[in-house]
Amino acid sequence: MANSKKSITGFSKLSKLGKIKWIVENFFKDPEVVRKELKSYWHSNEDQQKILDGFSENTITNFPMPYGVAPNFVINGETYCIPMVIEESSVVAAASSAAKFWMSRGGFKTTVINTEKVGQLHFLWKGPKALLTNNFEEIELRLLDAVQPLIKNMKARGGGINKIDLIDKTNDLEHLYQLQCYFETCDSMGANFINSILEKFGSELGNYIQVTPQLKDFASEYEVIMAILSNYTPNCVVRAEVSCHIDQLEGVSKHFNGQEFATKFKTAVDIARIDPYRATTHNKGIYNGIDAVVLATGNDFRAIEACGHSYASKDGQYRSLSYCTIDDDIFRFWLEVPLAIGTVGGLTSLHPIAKRSLELLGNPSAAKLMQIIAATGLAQNFGAVRSLVTTGIQRGHMRMHLMNILHQLEATEKEIKGALTHFNTEIVSFVSVRNFLDSGRQDKEIKIVN
Ligand code: MEV
Repeated sequence: MANSKKSITGFSKLSKLGKIKWIVENFFKDPEVVRKELKSYWHSNEDQQKILDGFSENTITNFPMPYGVAPNFVINGETYCIPMVIEESSVVAAASSAAKFWMSRGGFKTTVINTEKVGQLHFLWKGPKALLTNNFEEIELRLLDAVQPLIKNMKARGGGINKIDLIDKTNDLEHLYQLQCYFETCDSMGANFINSILEKFGSELGNYIQVTPQLKDFASEYEVIMAILSNYTPNCVVRAEVSCHIDQLEGVSKHFNGQEFATKFKTAVDIARIDPYRATTHNKGIYNGIDAVVLATGNDFRAIEACGHSYASKDGQYRSLSYCTIDDDIFRFWLEVPLAIGTVGGLTSLHPIAKRSLELLGNPSAAKLMQIIAATGLAQNFGAVRSLVTTGIQRGHMRMHLMNILHQLEATEKEIKGALTHFNTEIVSFVSVRNFLDSGRQDKEIKIVN
């Protein structure tokens, strides 16, 4: 049976302090959590806090995440310092290192392949199919006419509705039809724009059926199931590429020459092209970079990830989103990824730090931000695969991990220096670091609790 103390009605109506009080009384052992953590992360400026609270519901505090920057990204000849919000150590360091590496090898070349967004009206139609198909031209005109007020501003910015297709899904699901609609939403991600239009299409199609002589007898055979954008945007895709002569890869590793490194690297990418187990981790590495910029710029990382993973499976098998070739001694490594993002509207203009991220990037258009994000994903992928096929991932990771443990155990500068030397050859674990510090501290009788 549910624990009645842990459930509540009217929680959302409580004040923030009321919510905290109830949570602390029922879930936390130490009431000091309110002062020590929950309240300590409230924004010191009430207006700023109000903005943050406005993004979500039932907020009781803010959740801090590290905000780092990766400088030296040369993309199509322009240099960027890229904002990254991520909680995993080594990611920003790897992106920065890969950016610097490619800076002296021509930088990243990026191209937006297309920018089309998609939305669907899912409806049931139990009348004759021909009544829809034969009248579709007229239906389309009527639908477009009905949404003119909604698309006026977007049209003025160069966007709007590209196409509406009627899709018969009745072989998959009884009576199911869809209006599959394609949009250009310029610098906005376009979710509200698309959803408003789709909902209007749903009601307008109903109106059309009700007043059209051949169809009106079937008015009760039409039922809207839902109207919603699709996060699968296979035609909103960007490509990022790096390339160089294999001689320029000389020195990447102590153990391999340029040719050997290139071949090993390519094999690692090829493995991710053919094996979904490896592809998932490989793509996760790409999204370490992509998500970090998507988050820092106030975009929707869930949408970006969901789409990317569908796209990675577009031929029926989940594969790597990046590719590598070596032809005529030219090493080429590229990424092709769907990125439906925006630089106006939504959180991008409301979140105070997201706004700064965009400023840091020179207030890019959505198309430019797609390219910056893709370059970051490719850099991240390069960094990860380079480590994997040379030193192994643990070396760099463990150094960062070591620093985290040292900070957690409140190590002094001197202790950190000693630990970095000691753990160059020793295995890092919480216990081994604690023992190392303990042995040094025993003389000074400093006890480490934990
Ligand atoms: C860790 O967050 C990401 C990697 O596993 C990616 C990869 O294996 O390519 C290092």
